[in-house]
Amino acid sequence: MVRRKPVLKKRSAGDPLINNEPMKAIRIHEFGGPEVLKTEEVPVPEPAADEVLVKIYATSVNPVDWKIRDGQRKERFPVNLPLILGWDVSGVVQQAGNAVRNLKPGDEVYGRPDPTRNGTYAEYITVRANELGKRPLSIPHTQSAAVPMAALTAWQGLFDHGKLQQGQKVLIHAASGGVGTFALQFAKWKGAYVIGTTSGKNADLVKALGADEVIDYKNEDFEDKLTAIDLVFDTLGAETQKRSLQVLKAGGRLITTLNPEYKEEADARDIFLEGFTAQSYPDQLEKIAQLIDEGRVKPVIYKVMDLEEAKAAQQESQEGHVSGKIVLEVVRSVAPLN
Ligand SMILES: NC(=O)c1ccc[n+]([C@@H]2O[C@H](COP(=O)([O-])OP(=O)(O)OC[C@H]3O[C@@H](n4cnc5c(N)ncnc54)[C@H](OP(=O)(O)O)[C@@H]3O)[C@@H](O)[C@H]2O)c1
Repeated sequence: MVRRKPVLKKRSAGDPLINNEPMKAIRIHEFGGPEVLKTEEVPVPEPAADEVLVKIYATSVNPVDWKIRDGQRKERFPVNLPLILGWDVSGVVQQAGNAVRNLKPGDEVYGRPDPTRNGTYAEYITVRANELGKRPLSIPHTQSAAVPMAALTAWQGLFDHGKLQQGQKVLIHAASGGVGTFALQFAKWKGAYVIGTTSGKNADLVKALGADEVIDYKNEDFEDKLTAIDLVFDTLGAETQKRSLQVLKAGGRLITTLNPEYKEEADARDIFLEGFTAQSYPDQLEKIAQLIDEGRVKPVIYKVMDLEEAKAAQQESQEGHVSGKIVLEVVRSVAPLN
């Protein structure tokens, strides 16, 4: 059977009926390197009863974007192809499904949509309303787009899984990364003693975000310098995770954003080792927005690129040395369709 391509009607200015009209999106049709990212026109999706349609002003790049792109996360995030990549959104609600009670058209929102569904490298997305919160209004979309996935991961890692308390000692690995820059600030806000690992070029940034101690991983071994740590927040995995067991006190916690690979060794030292996948909770998004609006926490923006530069942005993220976040601006960078 020959499948007909959907006929995309062009949008005219002021026309509120946008579903099924064309929008720009960066999609993949197969797993692979950056070359599989394609800029395409696809229909604006229609929200289901529990969803909202969000006009995307900006999105940001997370390592999971290129991990899903190259196929290494098929089991954890089973996706259908073709797929729009990207799972951070900052934008404005355009339409709300019948069952949505917490959001309405015009609301400025942000969040981390479900990574098993079409993502945010696009002009519009439909998102379950219970995955979004009101965005911090003191910063532009190009900054609030940097927040959801990284900040939720930091929050849940430190507080929900790590049980971090005031006065405890926490070691945050890759403290200059997307997740690490939020984790540092949240841990300081909580009143913890914070140690961060990064390389020398980022030491000033990590100190400015509140680290009490910075360890330059290129010149020092953290396990030679630290003991009696209450919590290690691991965003690097592998050997770093294993070596982290040595610095924790008995009864301490090792929380990882990657695979918890050393359960046996952790058990032998009476250390609680756990991995987790961050979830998008509106109450946490709104608490984080409040901390940002109060000036207690800020996203660290490495650079703002155009949506259509997603390929270069992913390549840079994949090199592993971005400090803070790469943002993709959608509204300014996509020419209006008329
Ligand atoms: N489980 C979840 O729900 C979840 C959610 C978000 C992220 N993650 C995962 O968590 C990891 C971190 O994410 P991210 O967004 O923070 O990554 P990222 O922003 O790409 O991290 C880059 C940072 O890591 C630092 N770094 C690299 N090697 C290091 C080392 N050996 N020691 C200390 N710092 C080092 C780099 O500093 P230099 O430039 O100085 O080297 C750079 O600033 C990724 O693997 C991601 O997939 C998981």
